[in-house]
Amino acid sequence: MIQIKLPEEEIAGVPLKNHMLLAAGILGTTGASLKRMLALGAGGVVTKSIGPNPIPGHHGPALIPVDCGLINAMGLPNPSKDFVEEISPLKGEPVVVSIFGGTPAEFGEVASWFSNAAAFELNLSCPHAEGYGAAIGVDPRIVQECTEIVKTYNKPVWVKLTPNVTDIKMIGKAAEKGGADALVAINTVKAMRISTELCRPVLGNVFGGLSGKAVFPIAVRSVYDLYEAVGIPIIGCGGITTADNVVEMMMAGASAVEIGSAIYDSVNVFSEIAADLYAEDGIPAEEIVGCAHV
Ligand code: FUM
Repeated sequence: MIQIKLPEEEIAGVPLKNHMLLAAGILGTTGASLKRMLALGAGGVVTKSIGPNPIPGHHGPALIPVDCGLINAMGLPNPSKDFVEEISPLKGEPVVVSIFGGTPAEFGEVASWFSNAAAFELNLSCPHAEGYGAAIGVDPRIVQECTEIVKTYNKPVWVKLTPNVTDIKMIGKAAEKGGADALVAINTVKAMRISTELCRPVLGNVFGGLSGKAVFPIAVRSVYDLYEAVGIPIIGCGGITTADNVVEMMMAGASAVEIGSAIYDSVNVFSEIAADLYAEDGIPAEEIVGCAHV
């Protein structure tokens, strides 16, 4: 397998310690858990998505394991502005704050609270939150406007995209037009299960988002498509569990990756992958980013 060198420069405006970030939504709700994931080898961390008002989330079950992945319908639970204090001890660390809102103005309001963020990741892609996430992230005009307003806070802006669209390239281009520094592809794939004993949907919210190994090929295809459509870096996300998956994502066009569901199986996934991925005589990652394109 190809081995690469550790990054020597910022990626999409963020000084990452390696090419792998903790994805939003997993162990990202406290400063202590984010710090722990950095200590366990994450090159950067993305927080749980923070919105304009505290939300308790959907009623349970909110997370179910399925073959090759997880389906969640958490409902964007978050403490809103109180989270600023939670992550203040992490000042100077590569902490990307995931934010959401129902309008561009709400995105701007939430961004204004986080002067310590290394970057913002705009959640325009959660597939199961009424009025938020993908509900507005399928509209290129709104995606552009949300990006523009957060960009006024002079930090790198990453836009996390939903795969639940006909043409992900169109949404990616809108984010790029709004000034995005990177695209993150992908958020979860809309999904559900039904209990045949209860004759009812398993999730409290009826449907949710599928993540984990099952979505890896969808994520690779999305990154590949976006690489052909935009000129900004792409962060690959979705079902990555091995060093070879990281290399494959890079060959599709990703400059870095985010890892989430794999933590469900091993909290040491970052150091486990790093042991296989990096070598002092490895090649610079830039040499393989997008190399699968003909
Ligand atoms: O429901 C949730 O909190 C998940 C968010 C997301 O998929 O972005």
